Amino acid sequence: MRKVMSIVGARPQFVKAAAIDRAFHRVGHVKHILLHTGQHYDAAMSQVFFDELGIPPADINLGVGSGPHGQQTARMLEGIERALIEHRPDALILYGDTNSTVAGALAAAKLHVPIAHVEAGLRSFNMAMPEEVNRVVCDHCSTWLFCPTAAAVRNLEREGFSVAPDGPPSIDHPHVLMTGDVMLDSSMHFAAIAAQRSDILDRLGVISNAYLLATIHRDFNTDDPRRLLAICGALRSCSASHAIPVVVPVHPRTRERILRLQADGLWMLDDDTQLRLIPPVGYLDMIELERHARLILTDSGGVQKEAYFFNKPCVVLRPETEWVELVEHGQARLVDAEPHRIQDAVGAFLKNGVPSCQPLYGDGHAADAIVRCMIE
Ligand code: UD1
Ligand code: UDP
Repeated sequence: MRKVMSIVGARPQFVKAAAIDRAFHRVGHVKHILLHTGQHYDAAMSQVFFDELGIPPADINLGVGSGPHGQQTARMLEGIERALIEHRPDALILYGDTNSTVAGALAAAKLHVPIAHVEAGLRSFNMAMPEEVNRVVCDHCSTWLFCPTAAAVRNLEREGFSVAPDGPPSIDHPHVLMTGDVMLDSSMHFAAIAAQRSDILDRLGVISNAYLLATIHRDFNTDDPRRLLAICGALRSCSASHAIPVVVPVHPRTRERILRLQADGLWMLDDDTQLRLIPPVGYLDMIELERHARLILTDSGGVQKEAYFFNKPCVVLRPETEWVELVEHGQARLVDAEPHRIQDAVGAFLKNGVPSCQPLYGDGHAADAIVRCMIE
């Protein structure tokens, strides 16, 4: 029986790997081994996704935890190399752009294990982002580059990849394919399940279409107190001027930074604030919150797309995005961390909503296309 290994470690990778795992189950004759690096480890950042998304427990958990980039990546590299030598998979699947992704890419390339990169070709053209370094390295070590969008294919073409290769795929003759986005597969699969099982709106006491949803976790937003304060202040102003609560499931990295701002006396939450800072939520609660939000503000990659999947306007708290088609089609607006731009975009979207838009991320069967291609 053929063996394929997936490497996951961070929250969005559980969502992506769940779609691929379901696709392997539909095929039936490939053993899908799951390696969890342990990059995310809090129950709310890891276990809840395994419980809710029906992913089998990881076959291997490296338990690397948090740390500086070099240390964290090095620990993963060591553990992944060991696992590849022990399990000898026919191929390795890597997802997105985290440190778990780049560690997998380096380990597999040196051991000549062919890599399939899910979410290949995305670029922010900002190498100050650790994610940009990770994705460029992973793409250039891959044998199959599975692109979610036409823009991603164009980015790879500009970097010298052939988009019409002949002959069998290999690291020296990689195959670039546009498959659509596996996150759409998961959103479509789980939306009805979330509607049945999640009672998050009741628990928070918010009403459908009468709250904003926000997430912040990018290092450049959390680790720069001026940017974090600007965003938090703008969220508070939007809430006050439109008399609407803002629900903010807070990533642990952001929580730590907000606590520091509070300790330094730089940030206070008024008693009457409509800013609802809550712990990170599970996937089913999150997509239920997205489906019922009036509008979403985020610096997340995945949440930008999910806003579009659920037809919600998205205000992107970044200077640029990899998901350029969302901006081009008026589904999202880039506002950076500038309070007046955040408020303008929220005001405009609350008034006008989003225009209707053609499908941008495929038909919800990206994982089947990826698995089929690898098997062929
Ligand atoms: C990582 C990814 C980012 C992705 C995000 C998804 C990299 C470089 N970054 O960012 O691309 O968008 O995951 O959420 O790989 N922490 C906890 N508990 C946890 C996990 C993290 O408390 O379970 C805290 C720790 O203080 C840690 C910090 O969060 O130092 C950052 O975690 P880390 O995994 O290094 O990066 P993320 O910001 O989560
Ligand atoms: N997510 C979640 N709970 C939360 C915040 C996000 O389940 O409290 C999900 C979200 O729906 C999406 C994924 O996590 O599927 C996105 O992860 P994140 O924003 O952490 O990372 P990014 O996509 O930016 O890499």
